[in-house]
Amino acid sequence: MKGIVLSGGSGTRLYPMTRAANKQLLPVYNKPMVYYPLTTLMLAGCRDILLVVNPHDEEAYRRLFGDGRQWGLEVRYAVQPRPGGIAEVFIVGREFVGKDRVGLILGDNLFYGDSLPAVAERGARGRDAVIYAYWVSDPSAYGVVEFGSDGETPVGIVEKPKAPRSNWAITGLYFYDADVCDVAAQIPRSARGELEISDVNAWYLKERRLTVEKLGRGYAWLDTGTPSSLLRAAQFVETVEDRQGLQIGSPEEVAWRKGYIDDAGLARLIEPIRDSEYGKYLQRLLARG
Ligand code: DAU
Repeated sequence: MKGIVLSGGSGTRLYPMTRAANKQLLPVYNKPMVYYPLTTLMLAGCRDILLVVNPHDEEAYRRLFGDGRQWGLEVRYAVQPRPGGIAEVFIVGREFVGKDRVGLILGDNLFYGDSLPAVAERGARGRDAVIYAYWVSDPSAYGVVEFGSDGETPVGIVEKPKAPRSNWAITGLYFYDADVCDVAAQIPRSARGELEISDVNAWYLKERRLTVEKLGRGYAWLDTGTPSSLLRAAQFVETVEDRQGLQIGSPEEVAWRKGYIDDAGLARLIEPIRDSEYGKYLQRLLARG
């Protein structure tokens, strides 16, 4: 299964933090932000990964991920020349997608929940387009989906509506068939000059090829787009990790648990970081077996 992590963007809402480092490289508590969405895709079963990055950030991402082999992945890179909208990933990533089904996750989206792997795997194995909706108190900053009278059938999708017709925000995790590249190539740019992912989803909805799965109370979906939401996300991770003694968003752990790497592979990753808290955590995992 193929997966794309979108890690470009200008990060203007986080200035001046993002003047020196790309937003998705900033820490969320104890890991780079991009670890969290990457591990969500890994849990969905994606091992063939494309990272879409800004031209000047490619080197930093290559330093972080290399070719992905250390985590049993194949990681490739594509450059988005300038932030022209989320749906542009299917223009720059067209060759990568080829004829395959593909998962897309936004590099600033953090998901957490016991059943998340099963939910994401369903999307990965599903057909046509599968997206996820999450109830929020203020949906106006998101893509918003409206449901029909049965409360299940999606009937409308609007990007950042001034007067939202529901509280169901569309999250930054999407699964599509290979047609998505043609769809992205044919939608017009929006008033803000971007290829909107909501227009892609609206196309699938019009064609009756869209499934919207609601993520209920058992999930956390966190935003990291502003200084305070970034701080809240970090506090959430710290709270859960400290209380449970489990890490959220560790690629080493997910790779090992999914069988993408074996014990020897994990031991090799631990060696250079064995004195860090993170390294000690991974050692405990390995010792427990
Ligand atoms: O987080 C979910 C929301 O993400 C959805 O509800 C919206 O429908 C969707 O449009 C998007 O809204 P945002 O306003 O949060 O998108 P933003 O421009 O902040 O970009 C999201 C991520 O994608 C961010 O990590 C930067 C990256 N990005 C964005 C654009 C527009 C790129 O790498 N390239 C781009 O061209």
